Amino acid sequence: MAPVDQEFLQRVSLIPRHGLGLSVDVYQPDLFELVDALEQCSLAYGYLEIFKASQPALAAVRQRLPACLLEYHAEGLWVTQPDMDTAYHLDHELATAAAHLGTLGCHWINHECASKQMAGYAFGTYLPPLYTQASVEVTAEHIRLVQDHLDRQMPAPTGRVPLFLLELPPLTYFAFGDLPVAEFFRRVADRTPCGMVLDIGHLWTVYRYSGEARRKGLTEFLAEFLDVFPMERVVQIHVAGLALHEAGGKASDPAGSPRWLDAHGAPIPGLLFDMLKRVLAHPQLRCLKGIALEVDNKTVLQIVQEFQQFTERFASWDALSRPVQPARQDAGRPALHAERQAGRLTQPVAEDRQAHTGKQELLAQYDRYAGLVTGKRWTDPPLGLPALDLEPGALEAYRQTYLPHEILYWGGDLRDMFPETCRRLDQADIALESFVRYWVREPRRSPAPYDFFLLKIERFEAFVREVLPEAIETAVREATVLREAYGAACEQVRPVA
Ligand SMILES: [Fe+2]
Repeated sequence: MAPVDQEFLQRVSLIPRHGLGLSVDVYQPDLFELVDALEQCSLAYGYLEIFKASQPALAAVRQRLPACLLEYHAEGLWVTQPDMDTAYHLDHELATAAAHLGTLGCHWINHECASKQMAGYAFGTYLPPLYTQASVEVTAEHIRLVQDHLDRQMPAPTGRVPLFLLELPPLTYFAFGDLPVAEFFRRVADRTPCGMVLDIGHLWTVYRYSGEARRKGLTEFLAEFLDVFPMERVVQIHVAGLALHEAGGKASDPAGSPRWLDAHGAPIPGLLFDMLKRVLAHPQLRCLKGIALEVDNKTVLQIVQEFQQFTERFASWDALSRPVQPARQDAGRPALHAERQAGRLTQPVAEDRQAHTGKQELLAQYDRYAGLVTGKRWTDPPLGLPALDLEPGALEAYRQTYLPHEILYWGGDLRDMFPETCRRLDQADIALESFVRYWVREPRRSPAPYDFFLLKIERFEAFVREVLPEAIETAVREATVLREAYGAACEQVRPVA
Protein backbone atom coordinates (compact mmCIF):
# COMPACT_ATOMS: atom_id res chain seq x y z
CA MET A 1 0.00 0.00 0.00
CA ALA A 2 1.29 3.49 -0.86
CA PRO A 3 2.42 5.61 2.15
CA VAL A 4 -0.19 8.21 1.27
CA ASP A 5 -2.97 5.61 1.53
CA GLN A 6 -1.54 4.24 4.78
CA GLU A 7 -1.54 7.71 6.27
CA PHE A 8 -5.13 8.30 5.20
CA LEU A 9 -6.25 5.01 6.73
CA GLN A 10 -4.48 5.81 9.96
CA ARG A 11 -6.08 9.23 10.16
CA VAL A 12 -9.57 8.12 9.15
CA SER A 13 -9.52 5.23 11.63
CA LEU A 14 -9.63 7.87 14.39
CA ILE A 15 -12.95 9.23 13.15
CA PRO A 16 -16.08 7.59 14.57
CA ARG A 17 -19.04 6.74 12.37
CA HIS A 18 -21.36 9.75 12.31
CA GLY A 19 -24.50 8.39 10.66
CA LEU A 20 -27.11 10.64 9.06
CA GLY A 21 -26.75 14.35 9.69
CA LEU A 22 -27.19 17.87 8.40
CA SER A 23 -24.77 20.38 6.90
CA VAL A 24 -26.05 23.76 8.10
CA ASP A 25 -25.47 27.48 8.42
CA VAL A 26 -25.66 29.13 11.86
CA TYR A 27 -27.98 31.93 10.69
CA GLN A 28 -29.83 30.80 7.55
CA PRO A 29 -32.05 29.38 8.86
CA ASP A 30 -31.49 30.01 12.57
CA LEU A 31 -29.69 26.87 13.71
CA PHE A 32 -31.17 26.91 17.21
CA GLU A 33 -34.68 27.08 15.77
CA LEU A 34 -33.86 24.12 13.54
CA VAL A 35 -32.43 22.09 16.42
CA ASP A 36 -35.52 22.85 18.52
CA ALA A 37 -37.81 21.75 15.67
CA LEU A 38 -35.90 18.50 15.16
CA GLU A 39 -36.08 17.77 18.89
CA GLN A 40 -39.82 18.51 19.01
CA CYS A 41 -40.34 15.98 16.19
CA SER A 42 -38.05 13.47 17.98
CA LEU A 43 -35.90 13.39 14.86
CA ALA A 44 -32.44 12.15 15.86
CA TYR A 45 -29.44 13.30 13.87
CA GLY A 46 -25.96 11.82 14.05
CA TYR A 47 -24.04 15.06 13.53
CA LEU A 48 -24.09 18.64 12.27
CA GLU A 49 -21.55 20.08 9.87
CA ILE A 50 -21.41 23.84 10.44
CA PHE A 51 -20.50 26.35 7.74
CA LYS A 52 -17.85 28.94 8.67
CA ALA A 53 -19.31 31.59 10.99
CA SER A 54 -18.05 33.96 13.67
CA GLN A 55 -16.22 32.54 16.67
CA PRO A 56 -18.91 33.63 19.21
CA ALA A 57 -21.64 32.02 17.09
CA LEU A 58 -19.73 28.73 16.83
CA ALA A 59 -19.00 28.78 20.56
CA ALA A 60 -22.72 29.25 21.23
CA VAL A 61 -23.54 26.24 19.04
CA ARG A 62 -21.07 24.06 20.94
CA GLN A 63 -22.53 25.29 24.24
CA ARG A 64 -26.10 24.56 23.12
CA LEU A 65 -25.17 21.08 21.84
CA PRO A 66 -22.48 19.78 24.24
CA ALA A 67 -22.79 16.12 23.26
CA CYS A 68 -23.34 16.47 19.51
CA LEU A 69 -20.71 15.59 16.90
CA LEU A 70 -19.97 18.91 15.20
CA GLU A 71 -17.88 19.17 12.05
CA TYR A 72 -16.67 22.19 10.05
CA HIS A 73 -17.33 23.37 6.49
CA ALA A 74 -14.56 25.88 5.89
CA GLU A 75 -14.22 28.64 3.33
CA GLY A 76 -11.37 30.88 2.20
CA LEU A 77 -8.64 28.22 2.05
CA TRP A 78 -8.29 28.39 -1.72
CA VAL A 79 -6.22 25.22 -2.16
CA THR A 80 -6.81 25.17 -5.92
CA GLN A 81 -5.16 28.54 -6.46
CA PRO A 82 -1.41 28.66 -7.26
CA ASP A 83 -1.06 31.94 -5.32
CA MET A 84 -2.95 30.62 -2.28
CA ASP A 85 -0.02 31.33 0.05
CA THR A 86 0.73 34.86 -1.22
CA ALA A 87 -2.54 36.52 -2.31
CA TYR A 88 -5.30 35.53 0.09
CA HIS A 89 -4.33 36.21 3.74
CA LEU A 90 -3.46 32.56 4.27
CA ASP A 91 -2.04 32.95 7.79
CA HIS A 92 -5.26 34.60 8.94
CA GLU A 93 -7.43 31.95 7.27
CA LEU A 94 -5.39 29.11 8.79
CA ALA A 95 -5.55 30.64 12.27
CA THR A 96 -9.30 31.18 11.91
CA ALA A 97 -9.88 27.61 10.74
CA ALA A 98 -7.81 26.19 13.62
CA ALA A 99 -9.72 28.30 16.15
CA HIS A 100 -13.10 27.29 14.73
CA LEU A 101 -12.15 23.60 14.59
CA GLY A 102 -10.97 23.72 18.19
CA THR A 103 -14.16 25.45 19.35
CA LEU A 104 -16.38 22.89 17.67
CA GLY A 105 -14.12 19.92 18.52
CA CYS A 106 -14.12 18.63 14.95
CA HIS A 107 -12.89 15.40 13.40
CA TRP A 108 -12.78 16.91 9.92
CA ILE A 109 -12.52 20.15 8.01
CA ASN A 110 -14.38 20.11 4.72
CA HIS A 111 -13.50 22.53 1.91
CA GLU A 112 -14.76 22.70 -1.64
CA CYS A 113 -12.20 21.92 -4.32
CA ALA A 114 -13.05 25.34 -5.72
CA SER A 115 -12.42 29.03 -5.18
CA LYS A 116 -14.31 32.30 -4.97
CA GLN A 117 -11.19 34.28 -5.79
CA MET A 118 -8.76 33.85 -8.66
CA ALA A 119 -6.02 35.92 -10.32
CA GLY A 120 -7.19 39.10 -8.60
CA TYR A 121 -10.92 38.62 -9.37
CA ALA A 122 -13.57 37.90 -6.74
CA PHE A 123 -16.84 36.00 -7.05
CA GLY A 124 -19.77 35.30 -4.75
CA THR A 125 -20.01 31.58 -5.49
CA TYR A 126 -17.53 28.80 -6.22
CA LEU A 127 -15.67 28.36 -9.48
CA PRO A 128 -14.24 24.87 -10.04
CA PRO A 129 -10.51 24.33 -10.50
CA LEU A 130 -8.81 23.95 -13.83
CA TYR A 131 -8.93 20.21 -14.39
CA THR A 132 -5.29 19.79 -15.43
CA GLN A 133 -2.20 17.95 -14.15
CA ALA A 134 -0.53 21.18 -12.96
CA SER A 135 -3.68 21.95 -11.00
CA VAL A 136 -3.66 18.48 -9.43
CA GLU A 137 -0.13 19.09 -8.16
CA VAL A 138 -0.84 22.55 -6.75
CA THR A 139 -4.07 21.42 -5.07
CA ALA A 140 -2.39 18.39 -3.46
CA GLU A 141 0.54 20.50 -2.24
CA HIS A 142 -1.80 23.06 -0.66
CA ILE A 143 -3.95 20.42 1.04
CA ARG A 144 -0.74 19.05 2.54
CA LEU A 145 0.18 22.56 3.69
CA VAL A 146 -3.18 23.01 5.45
CA GLN A 147 -3.06 19.54 7.01
CA ASP A 148 0.49 20.15 8.27
CA HIS A 149 -0.63 23.40 9.86
CA LEU A 150 -3.51 21.66 11.62
CA ASP A 151 -1.19 18.86 12.75
CA ARG A 152 1.01 21.46 14.43
CA GLN A 153 -1.76 23.66 15.83
CA MET A 154 -4.63 21.39 16.73
CA PRO A 155 -3.72 18.80 19.38
CA ALA A 156 -4.73 21.08 22.25
CA PRO A 157 -7.25 21.25 23.82
CA THR A 158 -9.24 18.39 22.27
CA GLY A 159 -6.33 16.09 21.49
CA ARG A 160 -7.86 15.64 18.07
CA VAL A 161 -6.36 16.55 14.67
CA PRO A 162 -9.08 17.15 12.07
CA LEU A 163 -8.66 15.48 8.70
CA PHE A 164 -8.82 17.65 5.59
CA LEU A 165 -11.70 16.61 3.32
CA LEU A 166 -11.86 17.87 -0.27
CA GLU A 167 -15.36 18.26 -1.68
CA LEU A 168 -16.29 17.63 -5.31
CA PRO A 169 -17.45 21.11 -6.36
CA PRO A 170 -20.49 22.04 -8.45
CA LEU A 171 -20.22 23.10 -12.07
CA THR A 172 -22.08 26.27 -13.00
CA TYR A 173 -22.63 25.63 -16.73
CA PHE A 174 -18.98 24.83 -17.62
CA ALA A 175 -15.53 23.55 -16.64
CA PHE A 176 -12.07 24.01 -18.12
CA GLY A 177 -9.31 21.42 -18.32
CA ASP A 178 -8.07 18.34 -20.12
CA LEU A 179 -8.52 15.81 -17.30
CA PRO A 180 -11.87 14.14 -16.64
CA VAL A 181 -13.21 15.35 -13.28
CA ALA A 182 -13.03 11.91 -11.61
CA GLU A 183 -9.44 11.45 -12.79
CA PHE A 184 -8.48 14.83 -11.31
CA PHE A 185 -9.59 13.68 -7.84
CA ARG A 186 -7.95 10.28 -8.28
CA ARG A 187 -4.61 12.01 -8.95
CA VAL A 188 -5.02 14.38 -5.97
CA ALA A 189 -5.68 11.33 -3.76
CA ASP A 190 -2.51 9.70 -5.12
CA ARG A 191 -0.49 12.67 -3.85
CA THR A 192 -1.99 13.57 -0.48
CA PRO A 193 -3.71 11.65 2.33
CA CYS A 194 -6.87 13.76 2.41
CA GLY A 195 -10.39 12.42 2.53
CA MET A 196 -13.12 13.33 0.05
CA VAL A 197 -16.67 14.61 0.23
CA LEU A 198 -18.85 13.37 -2.59
CA ASP A 199 -21.72 15.81 -3.11
CA ILE A 200 -24.44 14.05 -5.09
CA GLY A 201 -26.00 17.26 -6.48
CA HIS A 202 -22.57 18.52 -7.51
CA LEU A 203 -22.01 15.17 -9.21
CA TRP A 204 -25.22 15.67 -11.18
CA THR A 205 -23.91 19.06 -12.38
CA VAL A 206 -20.68 17.37 -13.49
CA TYR A 207 -22.79 14.95 -15.54
CA ARG A 208 -24.83 17.84 -16.93
CA TYR A 209 -22.11 20.40 -17.73
CA SER A 210 -19.03 18.34 -18.63
CA GLY A 211 -20.66 17.12 -21.84
CA GLU A 212 -21.35 13.62 -20.48
CA ALA A 213 -25.14 14.14 -20.49
CA ARG A 214 -25.00 14.56 -24.27
CA ARG A 215 -23.16 11.26 -24.72
CA LYS A 216 -24.64 8.81 -22.23
CA GLY A 217 -27.34 8.12 -19.69
CA LEU A 218 -26.99 9.03 -16.02
CA THR A 219 -26.65 5.40 -14.89
CA GLU A 220 -23.78 4.71 -17.28
CA PHE A 221 -22.05 7.98 -16.34
CA LEU A 222 -22.39 7.25 -12.64
CA ALA A 223 -20.89 3.76 -12.94
CA GLU A 224 -17.92 5.05 -14.94
CA PHE A 225 -17.35 8.08 -12.69
CA LEU A 226 -17.43 6.07 -9.45
CA ASP A 227 -14.93 3.53 -10.79
CA VAL A 228 -12.35 6.30 -11.30
CA PHE A 229 -13.17 8.69 -8.42
CA PRO A 230 -11.28 7.76 -5.19
CA MET A 231 -14.30 6.18 -3.50
CA GLU A 232 -12.07 4.56 -0.89
CA ARG A 233 -11.28 8.11 0.33
CA VAL A 234 -14.89 9.29 0.62
CA VAL A 235 -15.53 10.16 4.28
CA GLN A 236 -18.73 12.13 3.87
CA ILE A 237 -21.55 12.42 1.34
CA HIS A 238 -23.64 15.57 0.82
CA VAL A 239 -27.09 15.79 -0.74
CA ALA A 240 -28.63 19.22 -1.50
CA GLY A 241 -31.16 20.84 -3.77
CA LEU A 242 -30.93 21.66 -7.47
CA ALA A 243 -32.83 24.43 -9.27
CA LEU A 244 -32.88 26.69 -12.30
CA HIS A 245 -31.05 29.92 -11.64
CA GLU A 246 -33.32 32.56 -10.08
CA ALA A 247 -32.30 35.18 -12.65
CA GLY A 248 -33.84 33.07 -15.42
CA GLY A 249 -32.10 32.17 -18.67
CA LYS A 250 -32.75 29.05 -20.71
CA ALA A 251 -34.50 26.35 -18.67
CA SER A 252 -33.04 23.46 -20.65
CA ASP A 253 -30.87 22.52 -23.61
CA PRO A 254 -32.37 21.52 -26.99
CA ALA A 255 -32.55 17.89 -25.81
CA GLY A 256 -34.67 18.93 -22.83
CA SER A 257 -32.06 18.38 -20.11
CA PRO A 258 -32.74 20.93 -17.34
CA ARG A 259 -30.14 23.63 -16.66
CA TRP A 260 -30.23 23.01 -12.92
CA LEU A 261 -27.56 24.44 -10.66
CA ASP A 262 -26.52 23.62 -7.11
CA ALA A 263 -29.15 25.33 -4.90
CA HIS A 264 -29.16 24.62 -1.17
CA GLY A 265 -32.45 26.47 -0.67
CA ALA A 266 -34.30 24.35 -3.26
CA PRO A 267 -36.07 21.03 -2.66
CA ILE A 268 -33.90 17.94 -3.11
CA PRO A 269 -35.02 16.16 -6.30
CA GLY A 270 -35.78 12.45 -5.95
CA LEU A 271 -33.24 11.53 -8.59
CA LEU A 272 -30.43 12.56 -6.22
CA PHE A 273 -31.62 9.99 -3.67
CA ASP A 274 -31.68 7.38 -6.44
CA MET A 275 -28.09 8.37 -7.26
CA LEU A 276 -27.20 8.16 -3.55
CA LYS A 277 -28.52 4.60 -3.40
CA ARG A 278 -26.24 3.59 -6.27
CA VAL A 279 -23.28 5.38 -4.70
CA LEU A 280 -23.81 3.57 -1.37
CA ALA A 281 -23.67 0.23 -3.18
CA HIS A 282 -20.18 0.91 -4.56
CA PRO A 283 -17.73 -1.72 -3.23
CA GLN A 284 -14.86 0.77 -2.69
CA LEU A 285 -16.88 2.98 -0.34
CA ARG A 286 -15.13 1.65 2.75
CA CYS A 287 -14.46 4.76 4.87
CA LEU A 288 -17.76 6.61 4.72
CA LYS A 289 -18.53 8.13 8.13
CA GLY A 290 -21.54 10.33 7.49
CA ILE A 291 -24.22 11.39 5.01
CA ALA A 292 -25.58 14.92 5.38
CA LEU A 293 -28.40 16.83 3.77
CA GLU A 294 -26.95 20.27 3.02
CA VAL A 295 -29.78 22.59 4.04
CA ASP A 296 -28.62 26.16 4.49
CA ASN A 297 -31.01 28.80 3.09
CA LYS A 298 -34.02 26.51 3.49
CA THR A 299 -37.05 26.88 5.76
CA VAL A 300 -36.99 24.93 9.02
CA LEU A 301 -40.25 23.21 8.06
CA GLN A 302 -38.84 22.04 4.73
CA ILE A 303 -35.64 20.77 6.39
CA VAL A 304 -37.59 18.78 8.97
CA GLN A 305 -39.78 17.19 6.28
CA GLU A 306 -36.85 16.34 4.01
CA PHE A 307 -34.74 14.99 6.88
CA GLN A 308 -37.61 12.82 8.07
CA GLN A 309 -38.02 11.28 4.60
CA PHE A 310 -34.27 10.90 4.27
CA THR A 311 -33.85 9.10 7.60
CA GLU A 312 -36.75 6.76 6.78
CA ARG A 313 -35.33 5.86 3.37
CA PHE A 314 -31.73 5.44 4.51
CA ALA A 315 -32.35 3.98 7.97
CA SER A 316 -30.64 0.74 6.96
CA TRP A 317 -27.36 2.51 6.20
CA ASP A 318 -27.71 4.47 9.43
CA ALA A 319 -28.17 1.27 11.42
CA LEU A 320 -24.78 0.11 10.15
CA SER A 321 -23.23 3.31 11.53
CA ARG A 322 -23.84 2.48 15.15
CA PRO A 323 -22.51 2.27 17.74
CA VAL A 324 -20.28 5.31 17.75
CA GLN A 325 -17.02 4.63 19.58
CA PRO A 326 -15.53 7.97 20.51
CA ALA A 327 -12.92 6.38 22.78
CA ARG A 328 -10.85 5.22 19.80
CA GLN A 329 -10.13 8.64 18.41
CA ASP A 330 -7.78 9.96 21.06
CA ALA A 331 -6.16 6.62 21.76
CA GLY A 332 -4.69 6.58 18.26
CA ARG A 333 -3.35 10.09 18.15
CA PRO A 334 -0.01 9.60 19.91
CA ALA A 335 0.83 6.78 17.49
CA LEU A 336 0.08 9.06 14.55
CA HIS A 337 2.33 11.76 15.90
CA ALA A 338 5.10 9.30 16.69
CA GLU A 339 4.95 8.00 13.12
CA ARG A 340 5.04 11.53 11.81
CA GLN A 341 8.05 12.44 13.90
CA ALA A 342 9.80 9.27 12.81
CA GLY A 343 9.27 10.32 9.19
CA ARG A 344 7.23 7.28 8.30
CA LEU A 345 4.27 9.26 7.02
CA THR A 346 4.21 11.08 3.70
CA GLN A 347 6.08 14.34 3.78
CA PRO A 348 5.16 17.70 2.26
CA VAL A 349 6.01 18.11 -1.39
CA ALA A 350 9.23 20.12 -1.64
CA GLU A 351 8.92 23.28 -3.66
CA ASP A 352 11.67 23.54 -6.25
CA ARG A 353 12.29 25.74 -9.25
CA GLN A 354 10.28 23.48 -11.56
CA ALA A 355 7.28 23.64 -9.25
CA HIS A 356 7.63 27.43 -9.09
CA THR A 357 7.56 27.64 -12.90
CA GLY A 358 4.54 25.33 -12.99
CA LYS A 359 2.73 27.59 -10.53
CA GLN A 360 3.49 30.67 -12.63
CA GLU A 361 2.10 28.99 -15.74
CA LEU A 362 -0.96 27.84 -13.83
CA LEU A 363 -1.49 31.36 -12.48
CA ALA A 364 -1.44 32.68 -16.06
CA GLN A 365 -4.05 30.06 -16.95
CA TYR A 366 -6.26 31.13 -14.05
CA ASP A 367 -5.90 34.71 -15.28
CA ARG A 368 -7.23 33.57 -18.70
CA TYR A 369 -9.96 31.56 -16.95
CA ALA A 370 -11.08 34.66 -14.98
CA GLY A 371 -10.92 36.73 -18.16
CA LEU A 372 -13.16 34.29 -19.98
CA VAL A 373 -15.83 33.91 -17.32
CA THR A 374 -16.04 37.65 -16.64
CA GLY A 375 -16.24 38.40 -20.37
CA LYS A 376 -13.16 40.56 -20.13
CA ARG A 377 -11.26 38.49 -22.65
CA TRP A 378 -14.06 37.07 -24.65
CA THR A 379 -13.40 34.72 -27.52
CA ASP A 380 -15.70 32.11 -28.93
CA PRO A 381 -14.54 29.36 -28.85
CA PRO A 382 -12.45 30.21 -25.77
CA LEU A 383 -8.74 30.33 -26.56
CA GLY A 384 -5.84 29.38 -24.33
CA LEU A 385 -7.66 26.84 -22.16
CA PRO A 386 -8.96 23.36 -22.89
CA ALA A 387 -12.65 23.13 -21.97
CA LEU A 388 -14.50 19.99 -20.91
CA ASP A 389 -16.84 19.75 -23.91
CA LEU A 390 -18.40 23.19 -23.47
CA GLU A 391 -22.13 23.40 -24.18
CA PRO A 392 -23.00 26.18 -26.67
CA GLY A 393 -24.12 29.23 -24.71
CA ALA A 394 -22.67 28.01 -21.39
CA LEU A 395 -20.17 30.82 -20.91
CA GLU A 396 -22.68 33.42 -22.09
CA ALA A 397 -25.17 32.18 -19.49
CA TYR A 398 -22.56 32.63 -16.79
CA ARG A 399 -21.20 36.03 -17.78
CA GLN A 400 -24.44 37.64 -19.00
CA THR A 401 -26.89 36.35 -16.38
CA TYR A 402 -25.29 34.49 -13.50
CA LEU A 403 -22.35 36.79 -12.71
CA PRO A 404 -24.25 40.12 -12.96
CA HIS A 405 -26.95 38.68 -10.68
CA GLU A 406 -24.28 37.62 -8.21
CA ILE A 407 -22.68 41.07 -8.10
CA LEU A 408 -25.93 43.05 -7.97
CA TYR A 409 -28.18 40.83 -5.84
CA TRP A 410 -26.56 37.70 -4.37
CA GLY A 411 -25.65 37.96 -0.68
CA GLY A 412 -27.21 41.46 -0.57
CA ASP A 413 -29.30 43.44 -3.08
CA LEU A 414 -27.43 46.69 -3.72
CA ARG A 415 -30.67 48.69 -3.85
CA ASP A 416 -31.52 47.45 -0.33
CA MET A 417 -27.97 47.98 0.91
CA PHE A 418 -27.47 51.48 -0.52
CA PRO A 419 -30.99 52.91 -1.14
CA GLU A 420 -30.06 56.60 -1.02
CA THR A 421 -26.89 56.19 -3.09
CA CYS A 422 -28.78 54.18 -5.72
CA ARG A 423 -31.37 56.99 -5.96
CA ARG A 424 -28.55 59.46 -6.58
CA LEU A 425 -27.12 57.17 -9.30
CA ASP A 426 -30.57 56.87 -10.91
CA GLN A 427 -30.97 60.68 -10.91
CA ALA A 428 -27.59 60.98 -12.59
CA ASP A 429 -28.60 58.37 -15.22
CA ILE A 430 -25.85 55.98 -14.13
CA ALA A 431 -27.10 52.43 -14.59
CA LEU A 432 -26.42 50.09 -11.68
CA GLU A 433 -25.31 47.50 -14.25
CA SER A 434 -22.18 49.59 -14.85
CA PHE A 435 -21.05 48.42 -11.38
CA VAL A 436 -20.72 44.92 -12.86
CA ARG A 437 -18.32 46.22 -15.52
CA TYR A 438 -16.42 48.13 -12.80
CA TRP A 439 -16.17 44.93 -10.68
CA VAL A 440 -14.55 42.86 -13.43
CA ARG A 441 -12.56 45.68 -15.07
CA GLU A 442 -9.19 44.80 -13.57
CA PRO A 443 -7.56 42.43 -11.09
CA ARG A 444 -7.37 43.84 -7.57
CA ARG A 445 -5.47 42.71 -4.51
CA SER A 446 -7.66 41.10 -1.90
CA PRO A 447 -7.99 43.84 0.79
CA ALA A 448 -8.96 41.46 3.59
CA PRO A 449 -9.78 37.80 4.22
CA TYR A 450 -12.61 36.74 1.91
CA ASP A 451 -16.06 38.03 2.83
CA PHE A 452 -18.31 38.71 -0.16
CA PHE A 453 -20.64 41.06 1.71
CA LEU A 454 -17.83 43.28 3.02
CA LEU A 455 -16.12 43.18 -0.37
CA LYS A 456 -19.33 44.31 -2.05
CA ILE A 457 -19.55 47.28 0.32
CA GLU A 458 -15.92 48.26 -0.25
CA ARG A 459 -16.17 47.94 -4.05
CA PHE A 460 -19.44 49.87 -4.26
CA GLU A 461 -17.94 52.76 -2.27
CA ALA A 462 -14.97 52.85 -4.67
CA PHE A 463 -17.32 52.68 -7.68
CA VAL A 464 -19.38 55.65 -6.46
CA ARG A 465 -16.20 57.61 -5.74
CA GLU A 466 -15.25 57.13 -9.38
CA VAL A 467 -18.56 57.60 -11.23
CA LEU A 468 -20.40 60.09 -8.99
CA PRO A 469 -17.97 61.75 -6.56
CA GLU A 470 -20.65 64.14 -5.31
CA ALA A 471 -22.52 61.12 -3.83
CA ILE A 472 -19.55 59.64 -2.00
CA GLU A 473 -20.54 61.01 1.40
CA THR A 474 -23.92 59.30 1.06
CA ALA A 475 -22.26 56.04 0.02
CA VAL A 476 -19.77 56.19 2.91
CA ARG A 477 -22.58 56.87 5.40
CA GLU A 478 -24.63 53.92 4.14
CA ALA A 479 -21.52 51.71 4.05
CA THR A 480 -20.72 52.56 7.67
CA VAL A 481 -24.22 51.60 8.80
CA LEU A 482 -23.95 48.31 6.88
CA ARG A 483 -20.55 47.43 8.33
CA GLU A 484 -21.68 48.19 11.88
CA ALA A 485 -24.87 46.14 11.51
CA TYR A 486 -22.94 43.24 9.94
CA GLY A 487 -20.29 43.32 12.67
CA ALA A 488 -22.98 43.32 15.36
CA ALA A 489 -24.82 40.42 13.69
CA CYS A 490 -21.60 38.37 13.54
CA GLU A 491 -20.94 38.94 17.23
CA GLN A 492 -24.53 38.24 18.22
CA VAL A 493 -25.33 34.84 19.64
CA ARG A 494 -28.67 33.44 20.61
CA PRO A 495 -29.21 32.97 24.35
CA VAL A 496 -28.63 29.38 25.37
CA ALA A 497 -31.98 27.62 25.76
FE1 LIG B 1 -21.78 20.07 -0.48
